[in-house]
Amino acid sequence: MQILPASLLDINSLRRIEQACFDHDAWPLLDLMAVLTFPDVIRLKAVDNGRMIGFVAGDTRDQGLSWIATIAVLPEYQKQGVGRALLDACESKLTAARVRLCLRTDNVSALRLYETHGYQRVDIWRAYYKDRADALVMEKVRGV
Ligand SMILES: CC(C)(COP(=O)(O)OP(=O)(O)OC[C@H]1O[C@@H](n2cnc3c(N)ncnc32)[C@H](O)[C@@H]1OP(=O)(O)O)[C@@H](O)C(=O)NCCC(=O)NCCS
Repeated sequence: MQILPASLLDINSLRRIEQACFDHDAWPLLDLMAVLTFPDVIRLKAVDNGRMIGFVAGDTRDQGLSWIATIAVLPEYQKQGVGRALLDACESKLTAARVRLCLRTDNVSALRLYETHGYQRVDIWRAYYKDRADALVMEKVRGV
């Protein structure tokens, strides 16, 4: 498995990952195109035997606080360390002292991954998702 920069050429693979990983929370096509093209975004893909199996994006517009905008791994490749590798690789390219992300409060897999990566709960956004589920905001303070 390799972690490589992603580009607009990966749009179809990213769409498949998005649809496989997020039901009603999947990003629309325009948002996926934006995350693959906008400046100030770190975009990385995990590739196995030429197939894109995971994706992470980090938003670096704010120099003091970066956001992990999205992270996803195809279901059949989950729990094999791919998410961890993507998060490590993205964090290593961020320069902000603080990194934040948000997740559904019932997303156990993501919560475990972020907790074991040193993220702590800092806020709750009520009814953030389309189905009005709450979002947990987590933050990691780094010694950069
Ligand atoms: C969250 C997600 C990216 C994790 O990716 P992954 O490749 O499965 O994660 P890893 O295999 O690297 O696991 C990293 C850690 O997370 C934890 N973890 C992962 N899946 C877990 C699960 N289903 N249950 C409990 N813990 C889990 C483990 O603690 C693991 O630590 P370990 O390596 O010490 O065992 C993946 O589950 C996913 O794509 N989910 C759907 C999309 C999503 O919810 N994205 C996050 C939105 S905020």
